[in-house]
Amino acid sequence: MASQIPFTRGVPSSDLLPVDAMREAVEQAMRSEPTTALAYATGAGHEGLRAWIAGRHGVEPSRVVCTNGSLQALLFVAEVELAEGPRRVLVEAPTYDRAILVLRRAGADVAGIPVDGDGLDVDALAADIERHGAPALVYVIPNFQNPSGATLAADRRHRLVELARTHGFTIIEDDPYGLLRWRGEMLPSLLELGGESVISMSSFTKTVAPGLRVGYAIAPGELAPRLIRHANDTYISPSMLSQSALAAYCAGGNFEPWVGQARAALQERCAAMCEAVDEHFPAGSTYVRPDGGYFVWVDAPEGVDTTRLLGEATAAGVPYVKGADFFAEPAGERSLRLAFSAVPPDQIHEGIARLGGILSSALATA
Ligand SMILES: Cc1ncc(COP(=O)(O)O)c(C=O)c1O
Repeated sequence: MASQIPFTRGVPSSDLLPVDAMREAVEQAMRSEPTTALAYATGAGHEGLRAWIAGRHGVEPSRVVCTNGSLQALLFVAEVELAEGPRRVLVEAPTYDRAILVLRRAGADVAGIPVDGDGLDVDALAADIERHGAPALVYVIPNFQNPSGATLAADRRHRLVELARTHGFTIIEDDPYGLLRWRGEMLPSLLELGGESVISMSSFTKTVAPGLRVGYAIAPGELAPRLIRHANDTYISPSMLSQSALAAYCAGGNFEPWVGQARAALQERCAAMCEAVDEHFPAGSTYVRPDGGYFVWVDAPEGVDTTRLLGEATAAGVPYVKGADFFAEPAGERSLRLAFSAVPPDQIHEGIARLGGILSSALATA
């Protein structure tokens, strides 16, 4: 049987988990605040962690809501924001597949706006608003987008915020990857540009560890208490042991150095993947070279059907996520998402060579 080199999961590999520092942080949390770590809190989460996050973003701690992962924050925001009134939510096409599921579960009527190498096509968004009126929410992943790898250009950020202010919709900025940039300049966040028009969320899944299940939303002052109440009504409080340990980890100065280490490893993996795709994928395959993050998104030439080929790729030990999963409407037949985050560089070459062979044979017989 072929060795398994999965390109499916956007997670860090085990060597990119801060095992020793987190062990110490758990011990520290249990030594310094055992009753906080082992008790319920409010729906807002751990006070020390909220303050640390608020300091990084330059906002009041009262606006920070720490949740069990940022997807949970997205669900809470959608449930609260869509409870009354319009339910039309615009997302990027493609966008994170689970975000589509979560938004739909909260009752959203989800439609896609195209993405190109500079992120969300803001002209297409403006045209959609002309045709259908303002949506309730626009969900955007501005940095090294999951799945396309594209980053929303600075001028488009300004334009998006202007549209939100003019038409009175709220932007959900989902930014778990922004700190994992290895090329180009950090751009202003939508939160910085858009203030009260923006609900910004992020996660410690990609920068520390997914198993902690800690994410957060920064909400406008009026929305934050409603989100906290909603969280409290749902699960009383998020996992305090996780948040207490994470607060100790961050206070101990571990966060930035580990992100730096992860960024360097991801950069190497991304370079290996781009090089291997250039070498092994059929001519005419295109992708946006990401400036950071976890993913490369490939558009294969006409004649490749990534839904049909997934079984063969899985049997060959090189599964990917098919393009169709990332669209609200039927699309993405020729596309595939490749996560480089969890695969060491030497295996990336071998796996992409195998996958390229499968795509090339499919084209030859198309
Ligand atoms: C854009 C985006 N948002 C949210 C998440 C999930 O974050 P969490 O693990 O904090 O729920 C992911 C994970 O892949 C993601 O890519």
